[in-house]
Amino acid sequence: MPRITVPATSANIGVGFDCLGLALTLYAHFDVERADALEITGCDERYAGPDNLFYVSMCHALRAWGMAPFPIRLHIETDVPLARGLGSSSTLVVGGIYAAAALTGRELDRNEAVALACRMEGHPDNVAPAICGGLVCSFTPAGVAPEGCDNELEPEEPRCVCYDVDPSLRFVCVVPPYEVKTTEARRVVPRTIALGDAVWQMGRIAGVTRALETGDMDLLAAANDDRLHEPYRRALIPDYDAVRACVLDAGASTLWISGSGSTMAAVVREKNTDFCPISKGVADALRRQFPGFKVHILSCNTTGARVE
Ligand code: HSE
Repeated sequence: MPRITVPATSANIGVGFDCLGLALTLYAHFDVERADALEITGCDERYAGPDNLFYVSMCHALRAWGMAPFPIRLHIETDVPLARGLGSSSTLVVGGIYAAAALTGRELDRNEAVALACRMEGHPDNVAPAICGGLVCSFTPAGVAPEGCDNELEPEEPRCVCYDVDPSLRFVCVVPPYEVKTTEARRVVPRTIALGDAVWQMGRIAGVTRALETGDMDLLAAANDDRLHEPYRRALIPDYDAVRACVLDAGASTLWISGSGSTMAAVVREKNTDFCPISKGVADALRRQFPGFKVHILSCNTTGARVE
């Protein structure tokens, strides 16, 4: 029975709204085989039917290849929290596409997987790093629909630019016990920006990608200052200001909202990557101040989705 493993992702990473994303060492595992009838375990019962996103994605890939969908037995084991901005839906979309390939013996390259996944997700910033691993900047030749943020993608293949991430970086992800609805988080983002803000943003995207590659924390702290979405989304996360103050005080270099929230990711560079004392200090401070929140000390996943 193939086991498909897909990493969680942190999309946007501040200044890269709908473009940048980072794969993390937190995983969803899917054990899948052909069956006589659809059977899904390891998730809430309301997600255990034909509307399950993994199954919908698998059927979407099969139809795109001219094949008829078939029933499966699927068991889900995931550490990726649902609806918290760590790419849980992308793990299902990507997992379904890899399942379609694994169960039919079809060759699947990463570009095709990203293209299929983008058509389902609408924006590439979660699915591309979930497939490729590392830090990925993606864009579509035709861009996104200018009206609204609903991102009806043109049926053109997205382009992915992949970057390595300095292995001494840790991402301390703090997951509040409440959800921010992606639809609401997209609604509050202004549809147009001033030229000065576009200029502000472009320089900082280059700065953030370079800083993550090289581990230059001064550069990261200076460049991680978004003007497109974070100023509007902070208000949707009641603990944002307190979390930010807590992690910076405990030694993190900077903080971004992961995806559309509610998770926030603090970035730390460790000299001692065996013990990660700074990340542990940040995590302890968060756990003391926010006892109901989950805290994960994560690295960058470098492999992307895997089939075993
Ligand atoms: N780029 C997306 C957003 C990620 O910020 O809305 C969440 O799906």
